Amino acid sequence: MLSTALTQALQNQIGYEFAASQTYLGMAAYFHTQNLEGWATFFEKQSAEEREHALKIFHFLLETGSAAKLPAIAEAPVQYSSALETVQKSLEQEQRVTKSFQDMAALALKEADFTGFGFLQWFLTEQVEEEATFERLIALIESGINLFQAENLLPA
Ligand SMILES: [Fe+2]
Ligand SMILES: [Fe+2]
Repeated sequence: MLSTALTQALQNQIGYEFAASQTYLGMAAYFHTQNLEGWATFFEKQSAEEREHALKIFHFLLETGSAAKLPAIAEAPVQYSSALETVQKSLEQEQRVTKSFQDMAALALKEADFTGFGFLQWFLTEQVEEEATFERLIALIESGINLFQAENLLPA
């Protein structure tokens, strides 16, 4: 059984992951309107990944005999002022998620919840990759490259 505090934090995290999924889908919609299909596909994949993250936590809670929770998700924008704005907002979102997992890891240690601590490691490693991806995309756009040409350079 997980500690009560960590259970609540993970239940909240399910909401953050679904919110991130919704945000990335909104960004995909924005890129579709710009005829940048490669960028739209990239963000749709990001959106699907965030949903997987939510499900990973959802299943972990159920497997450990804890209650799952599906928090309300706010409406996500489908319009942005530029591609740069989308990747900057994405990086900020990922940084908030990283902080959230770091806080949960600290909490798990404080509560001597080693099962929970072990579960969080996968996410901490994943967040390193997520932040690096958006840092690279910011650099790509800031290089001044044409956004259509940049589609060939997006992560698979
Ligand atoms: Fe995530
Ligand atoms: Fe992410």
